[in-house]
Amino acid sequence: MTDKYAVFGNPIAQSKSPLIHSEFAKQTQQDMSYEAILAPVDQFSTSLTEFFANGGKGANVTAPFKEQAFAMCDELSDMAKLAGAVNTLFNLPNGKIGGDNTDGVGLVNDLEMLFGPLKGKRVLLVGAGGAARGCILPILQHNVAQLVICNRTHEKAVELQSLFNEYGNFFAKPIDELISPFDLVINSTSAGLSGQLIALPDAIVDATTDCYDMTYSQQTTGFNQWAQALHARKTADGLGMLVGQAAASFSLWRGVTPDKGPVIRKLREQLAQKAAE
Ligand code: ATR
Repeated sequence: MTDKYAVFGNPIAQSKSPLIHSEFAKQTQQDMSYEAILAPVDQFSTSLTEFFANGGKGANVTAPFKEQAFAMCDELSDMAKLAGAVNTLFNLPNGKIGGDNTDGVGLVNDLEMLFGPLKGKRVLLVGAGGAARGCILPILQHNVAQLVICNRTHEKAVELQSLFNEYGNFFAKPIDELISPFDLVINSTSAGLSGQLIALPDAIVDATTDCYDMTYSQQTTGFNQWAQALHARKTADGLGMLVGQAAASFSLWRGVTPDKGPVIRKLREQLAQKAAE
């Protein structure tokens, strides 16, 4: 019987997850379906319970439901606990729900593929929302020299620092105290999505700095345009992270690891086609 999977969100029409997972399923010859489900904002838990009651094996969760999904889980991975949010759900045999968070692993895999090992790097994480929180532990686990977090609202960065007190190389710093270049700057803010540019000091980027924007778009993102104007070594957007978190969910569910490369290329081509239309 075909195993059923789905992604829940609101809105959901824009989601690339059905395409990504159907490509992975073809590649690895898995007998599975994967649909997009628009859950009403106040009825996420009802929709999810119904999906699992009707035989759903697993699900992804996207905005705005990742925190609600976290609260519904009977069992959580360490990564999900530290992220405070869940993007991957499992229907456990005893009717319970298991939750994990693969966003951070997807990010870190993409960063290392694009820019080389994280070990020993000085990394700046810009933003202190849900997207940032899910990535802190995976970055720290890769033995970076230091991870600095900054945010428009500094107190939120300080709160995140306090969750990871045992890591002596993780600091919150006010934006105006950032005065020298980093090896890697990661933008996790949603500023670009609303057409705004975050105000950051130019001094944090030089010709040795790699820059990564967790969002992606048809054109170069505003953050990456800013980084390129400062002659950053390399810039990349978050398409590889999107495919990477999906690949990590897929291998948790199916026990096989799909090849991300062809799927990233396919999505990139689709974006280019849309831009040309
Ligand atoms: P997500 O779950 O996607 O991280 P979020 O929790 O709403 O979303 O967090 C959004 C992040 O983008 C926050 O770090 C936010 O900064 P504040 O904490 O100061 O609100 C940041 N952000 C959004 N718009 C911004 C802008 N125009 N300039 C700077 N930071 C911005």
